[in-house]
Amino acid sequence: MCGIIGYIGKDKALPRILNGLKFLEYRGYDSAGIAYVVNNKVEIKKEIGRISSLEKEINYDTETYMGIGHTRWATHGEPFKINSHPHQVGKFTVVHNGIIENYAKLKNKLENMNITFKSDTDTEVIPALLNYYYSKEKDILKTIKKTINDLEGSYALGIICDDDYENIYAVRFGSPLIIAKDKNGNFIASDVPAILAYTNKYILLNELEIAKVSKNNIEVYNKDLELVSYVEKIFEGSQESALLNGYDHYMLKEINEEDKVFLDTFNYYVQNGKFKNTMPDFKKYKNIHIVACGSAYYVGIIASSIIEELCNIPVYVEVASEYRYKKVFYDKDTLVIIISQSGETADSLAALRKSCADNIDTLAIVNVVASSIAREAKYVLYVKAGPEIAVATTKAFLAQITLLILLAIKLAKKDALLKEFIGLEKLIKKLLNQDYKDVALSIYKNSNVFFIGRGIDYGICLEGSLKLKETSYINSVAFQAGELKHGSISLIEVGTPVIGICTKKDMSKKTISNIKEVKSRGAYVIYITNDTVVDKFYDKLIILPDAHEIVMPILSVIPLQLIAYEVAKLRGCDIDKPRNLAKSVTVE
Ligand code: AGP
Repeated sequence: MCGIIGYIGKDKALPRILNGLKFLEYRGYDSAGIAYVVNNKVEIKKEIGRISSLEKEINYDTETYMGIGHTRWATHGEPFKINSHPHQVGKFTVVHNGIIENYAKLKNKLENMNITFKSDTDTEVIPALLNYYYSKEKDILKTIKKTINDLEGSYALGIICDDDYENIYAVRFGSPLIIAKDKNGNFIASDVPAILAYTNKYILLNELEIAKVSKNNIEVYNKDLELVSYVEKIFEGSQESALLNGYDHYMLKEINEEDKVFLDTFNYYVQNGKFKNTMPDFKKYKNIHIVACGSAYYVGIIASSIIEELCNIPVYVEVASEYRYKKVFYDKDTLVIIISQSGETADSLAALRKSCADNIDTLAIVNVVASSIAREAKYVLYVKAGPEIAVATTKAFLAQITLLILLAIKLAKKDALLKEFIGLEKLIKKLLNQDYKDVALSIYKNSNVFFIGRGIDYGICLEGSLKLKETSYINSVAFQAGELKHGSISLIEVGTPVIGICTKKDMSKKTISNIKEVKSRGAYVIYITNDTVVDKFYDKLIILPDAHEIVMPILSVIPLQLIAYEVAKLRGCDIDKPRNLAKSVTVE
C-alpha cells in the first residue's frame, strides 16, 4: 500500500505535496519522492526512509505550481532510491499505488522493443507503456486508455506528460483515488487525510475513470473517454479521524484489516490450490531453529508445534536475547528462522548475524521490505500485512502465523491442506464483526488475568496475554493448562479471570478439566473454542468458527486481540502507543 498525491494551482506546489505525503505515511514509509514542473521541465527528487528525509532535499519556495508525490511501501523492488517513485520514461512521469500483476510480461514485451528499465519495480512499466503508446497516439487520454487496457492488477496513478504541463492526469482501478478542489487549485490523492489541511471537498473517482485536472478545472472521463459528471462529497471528520479511516485507534483499524492481510499473504504464496514459486523448498534441512522476540517469538512457538507435527523434524524455539549469547547446537542441516515484523529488532538481528557468522543458513520472515534482517538473511519470505502503526502487533502477527503454516505444509509436502484456507477470510471477518465488549467489561477492573491452553493453544495464550499486558497494563500470564496446578493455581481467587482456549478437539476433555479446577476455586472463566460445549463450566463462552485444526491459530488469536483492545479502551490506556514501549526495539 503506498500513498500518492498531486497538486496543480495558483499556490506553490511543494508545501502542499509534502504536507499531503506526511498524512499518507501510514500507507507506507520506506521511501518517498516528488516530481514537479519548474522552468518548463520536470524535476524529480527521491529519498529512502521517512518523508522527513525527502523534506530536507526540498526548497519550499521553488517557483513550481504543479507536481506529484509518492510515499512507498515496497512490494516489488527494495526501497532504494532507484525503485522509489516517481518513475519517468520519456515524456511521462508517474506515481503509482497498487500492484501490476502482469508487469513481468509487459516488461519483457517492452524490452523486446528496446525499451530499457532502470528499476526493479512493477510500476516502471506504466510510464514506459504511456510513452510507447503516446508516440503513436499523440493524444494523452487515448494513450492512458490504451495503457490501462494492458494492465492487470491494481493501480491509482498520478501522471504528468511533458507535452501538457497545464494538467495532471489520474486514473484508478482497485486502488483508491480522490480528486479535491481548494480555493486556489486542485489535488489528486490516495485518500482524504492528504488534503484535509486545505479542503474537505472531494470527488471519489470511480473504477477506470480518468481525471484531467488543471488549476481551474476538473474533467472526468469514463473508460470510453466520454465526459461524465461527478458527485462532490464533503468529509465531515478531523484529519486524525480520516487517517484512522473512522476507527478510534490504529490497533482497531489494523485488526479489522486482518481478513485482507490474510488474503494478501496467502495469495502471494498460493494460487489455484498450488504453491507459487514465491515459496522456496526448504526440504534439505533436517532441523530448524526459530529465533525472535515478543509476539514474533510466540509465532515461533506456535509454528514449532505445527512444523514438528507435519514435517517430523525437530524445531528449537528461543528468544533472540538469549540465543545470541548461548551455546547453540546447529550444523549444515540446520535452518535458522528469524521472525520479525519490523526486521530491525536488535536482538533478532544479532541472533541472525551469529548464525550467518557460523555459516548456518538463515530465513527471515518479515513485514518491512528490505529491512536489516530481510537484507542480511540468506532467504527472506515477506508477509503482506502493510504498514503496522500501532505498537501492539496484530495483523502482522496473524500474517506471520499464516505464512509459517504454509511453510510447514510446503515442507511436509501436504499441499492437500491448502484447501483448508479457502474462504478463511470470511471466517476472519465473522470474528471481526463480533462484539467482545461484554467480555472486556467482565475483566477490565481486575489486576490479574490468566490464560490457559495446551499445545498450539498455549502459544495463542501467550500472545493473548501479551496483548492484554502491553495495551491495558493488566498483569496477565499464560500457562500450559496442565501446568497451573503445579503451584500457580494458588493465585486463583474468587473472581480471578481465567481465559481458557481449546481448538485441539482431542485435548478438549483435558483442558476442560483444568478449567474446572480453577472454576471450583472461584475463577471467572471465559472459554474460547470451536468444539461443541455440553455442560456449563464457564461464565462466558466464545465459539470460534469450526475450521480445520491447521488454520485455527489464525482464527483463535482474533478474539484475544479484540478483548485486549476493548479492555485497554475501558481503562483509558494509550492504546496505539502504550507506555514504555516502542514499535521496533532497536536496542539490546
Ligand atoms: C508485540 O505487540 C510487541 N510490540 C513486541 O513484543 C514485538 O512483537 C517484539 O518487539 C518483536 O518485534 P519485531 O517483530 O518487529 O521483531
